[in-house]
Amino acid sequence: MAQRCVCVLALVAMLLLVFPTVSISMGLRSEEHQRASRIPSQFSKEERVAMKEALKGAIQIPTVTFSSEKSNTTALAEFGKYIHKVFPTVVSTSFIQHEVVEEYSHLFTIQGSDPSLQPYLLMAHFDVVPAPEEGWEVPPFSGLERDGVIYGRGTLDDKNSVMALLQALELLLIRKYIPRRSFFISLGHDEESSGTGAQRISALLQSRGVQLAFIVDEGGFILDDFIPNFKKPIALIAVSEKGSMNLMLQVNMTSGHSSAPPKETSIGILAAAVSRLEQTPMPIIFGSGTLVTVLQQLANEFPFPVNIILSNPWLFEPLISRFMERNPLTNAIIRTTTALTIFKAGVKFNVIPPVAQATVNFRIHPGQTVQEVLELTKNIVADNRVQFHVLSAFDPLPVSPSDDKALGYQLLCQTVQSVFPEVNITAPVTSIGNTDSRFFTNLTTGIYRFYPIYIQPEDFKRIHGVNEKISVQAYETQVKFIFELIQNADTDQEPVSHLHKL
Ligand SMILES: *[C@@H]1O[C@H](CO)[C@@H](O)[C@H](O)[C@H]1NC(C)=O
Ligand SMILES: *[C@@H]1O[C@H](CO)[C@@H](O)[C@H](O)[C@H]1NC(C)=O
Ligand SMILES: *[C@@H]1O[C@H](CO)[C@@H](O)[C@H](O)[C@H]1NC(C)=O
Ligand SMILES: *[C@@H]1O[C@H](CO)[C@@H](O)[C@H](O)[C@H]1NC(C)=O
Ligand SMILES: [Zn+2]
Repeated sequence: MAQRCVCVLALVAMLLLVFPTVSISMGLRSEEHQRASRIPSQFSKEERVAMKEALKGAIQIPTVTFSSEKSNTTALAEFGKYIHKVFPTVVSTSFIQHEVVEEYSHLFTIQGSDPSLQPYLLMAHFDVVPAPEEGWEVPPFSGLERDGVIYGRGTLDDKNSVMALLQALELLLIRKYIPRRSFFISLGHDEESSGTGAQRISALLQSRGVQLAFIVDEGGFILDDFIPNFKKPIALIAVSEKGSMNLMLQVNMTSGHSSAPPKETSIGILAAAVSRLEQTPMPIIFGSGTLVTVLQQLANEFPFPVNIILSNPWLFEPLISRFMERNPLTNAIIRTTTALTIFKAGVKFNVIPPVAQATVNFRIHPGQTVQEVLELTKNIVADNRVQFHVLSAFDPLPVSPSDDKALGYQLLCQTVQSVFPEVNITAPVTSIGNTDSRFFTNLTTGIYRFYPIYIQPEDFKRIHGVNEKISVQAYETQVKFIFELIQNADTDQEPVSHLHKL
């Protein structure tokens, strides 16, 4: 029971993230935008085999980012050659320009036939985090298929997206597709560290005066089976990302011999300071009003007493908060998180070190700024012997629109509806992780992070963990989604008002 309540509240938490509007979206009716020349997303047996083999080949290239300074550049270069080999039509089509940016990242410019339509950008990254072999059922860079599932580092984050983008385009081009609306495909090579590839691509597009209708990057997903007794899948489209701050705390005291120690040492003072931070979590930030409507609609799906809680979120706020705080994932959704990540002091058994340093990583809720979190931190530590040094920081990302007029959001809803007809709930949320798309805020106000993939609780641990995997069917569906999305985007600028009749 308690377990179930936590899970239900996980959903509530997801919804609480929603900022200006929450809608249970029915999407656009796809027929409204279909042109006579629409190409059906059906692939032959040979194409489906080639498609999965291409993904396996991509997994086998160990494009590992070890740290911000170190990555496998041989593999990054090899990956560039690989996409040339497996997507020959993409690289040889006259209306597509391919550029290598920052040595290893790739930018494709696909020129549409109607220059009056504002272009859009699809993005993904092909670097991966390291994968030591311990714990893996198959070697992490083998790309082995077992029982219809492809294993390997990058099968979910994010080579599946890189390959699906190019694969869908390749298949469209083979069918003589000519886009009306221009678009770009940006493939970053160092998202797992500093994202310099994406930053350069953003700068390049800005220097060319490009303005984008919208961007789609990794991030959200289709949530399935998280909530017992709630069988309906929900498509979560991230419309914002948490901010981040790495804060170094430092205490300088005089050095001394351990035989006659002073009453307080740098280590003791700093340990007490970071302990206070850990014991004093940042405030909970609840979402805003419109969410009540959605919760009331969802409430009908649940039996007593959950339905009562969901229909009265304000009344039950303390209860909801208490449950959400217990689970690290839901806790991360309702507040700025505080994580103590580095602690350094001392070199010798008998020497009292003059200096102690600790680094704290904050992930900032969209309801706060870096400056506010810094001030709160200083107040919590409340010790002027502790110095604060901000090593790196950025504010939470602006919240992208998700209303009827938001073209990118509505196209995603429409495509979800046609590719996943069983999914009829779509909700805008905040991503707790960060993506390369955060470098593109100058180019558009519509940045959406969404993977067209079902994610179950155990999949979360696989991303950056062991036994990362994707089913062949899920990958084919991802290709199909992009294939449809690109065609759907050929609509005129103004999205038709979607069914909002709930
Ligand atoms: C780097 O990638 C190449 C393949 O491109 C591979 O042969 C080599 O073992 C990799 N190096 C490391 C350190 O992983
Ligand atoms: C504290 O110690 C560090 C490391 O020795 C030094 O760089 C820094 O200048 C010192 N700061 C103060 C305020 O003494
Ligand atoms: C959602 O989909 C289910 C079938 O999967 C259907 O029974 C239900 O009526 C749909 N709900 C809405 C609001 O359309
Ligand atoms: C956005 O544009 C401003 C003004 O031109 C520029 O100073 C800033 O560096 C740009 N930011 C990014 C992330 O490109
Ligand atoms: Zn990623």
